[in-house]
Amino acid sequence: MAEERRYGAIITAVASYLPDKVMANHDLERIVDTSDSWIRERTGITERRILEGRPTSYMAAEVARRLLARRRLDPAELDLIIVATISPDMFFPATACLVQDQIGARGAWGFDLSAACSGFVFALATGAQFIESGTHRRVMVIGADKMSSITDMQDRSTCVLFGDGAGGVLLERSEEPGLGMIDFEMHVDGAGCEHLHMKGGGSLFPASHETVDQRLHYIRQEGRTVFKFAVVKMAEVSLSLVARNGLKVEDLDLFVPHQANLRIIEATADRMGLPREKVMVNIDRYANTTGGTIPIALSEACELGRLKKGDLLLMTAVGGGMTWGSALFRWAI
Ligand code: ACO
Repeated sequence: MAEERRYGAIITAVASYLPDKVMANHDLERIVDTSDSWIRERTGITERRILEGRPTSYMAAEVARRLLARRRLDPAELDLIIVATISPDMFFPATACLVQDQIGARGAWGFDLSAACSGFVFALATGAQFIESGTHRRVMVIGADKMSSITDMQDRSTCVLFGDGAGGVLLERSEEPGLGMIDFEMHVDGAGCEHLHMKGGGSLFPASHETVDQRLHYIRQEGRTVFKFAVVKMAEVSLSLVARNGLKVEDLDLFVPHQANLRIIEATADRMGLPREKVMVNIDRYANTTGGTIPIALSEACELGRLKKGDLLLMTAVGGGMTWGSALFRWAI
């Protein structure tokens, strides 16, 4: 594949947006039968952010503005906006269209990508194609989810897991060899639909009084099945991607996994033989923001100075679909 690429797709800016309102585990104790200690021990989560009175596009547009400011770009210089989300403002228009309008990106087209928690890595792999082929110069890839809008606050097995947030990157072309996206590996298995889904509101179960009464407009999952699947698949796809590029796990400088559960992250790293100091973790403060977790964690890693030019970065996710995949980058900035 590499020889067909005209340019490298490098990440030139990273940004995130987290709403101000903090919902701590103790706040959830007042809503469902749970405890701070159960949540911390089983998930590693201490608190999450909640977006009030605004939709997902608000967070995505904030990320877009921050990315543009970081690169001192005019919105008109953007070619494409991809928003990975499962909590779009509405079925249509796509959230990407709303972001395009909110930031005034007059020259950009865009679309939403639905791959649940794998949405950001799927969107990253997609966006990179437009850069590598030479057809686009600047592609914004944003992961944004207002999970509080699709979380059942009466279901203690799911409501403690999620939060609201967004993050994103700017992809640009590079002629310097070896930098940017090295390779990616993505998978889906639709047979996993039963384990993790939100069934109401689509063409299968259009919104009705009945679907609302049955609480079909909320996430439902089999936690243990998803847990095991996540550990096995994140490790498997990561090791496969590293190996097929002639690399070893020891060559990785930073691993930024999807933040669903601290135990999933640690078990994945152990399975890969990756030391904890190379793993980016911030689930304690933001919980699972679905499309947002990886770019939010990446943004924080950059702020902490954990990436320098030439570093090897691996991003991995698993999510509803089931979907899973990894993207391997040589850091360029
Ligand atoms: N507070 C207190 N007790 C709870 C809570 C809660 N919030 N939630 C469940 N329990 C109880 C259960 O009812 C059960 O009680 P029982 O033994 O009397 O039946 C007990 O805790 C154990 O339940 P398990 O489901 O076996 O607990 P587990 O250790 O598997 O943890 C969890 C549950 C946290 C959901 C875990 O399975 C998990 O994280 N799974 C992955 C799910 C996920 O991350 N989904 C997000 C989308 S997909 C993705 O991002 C990868």
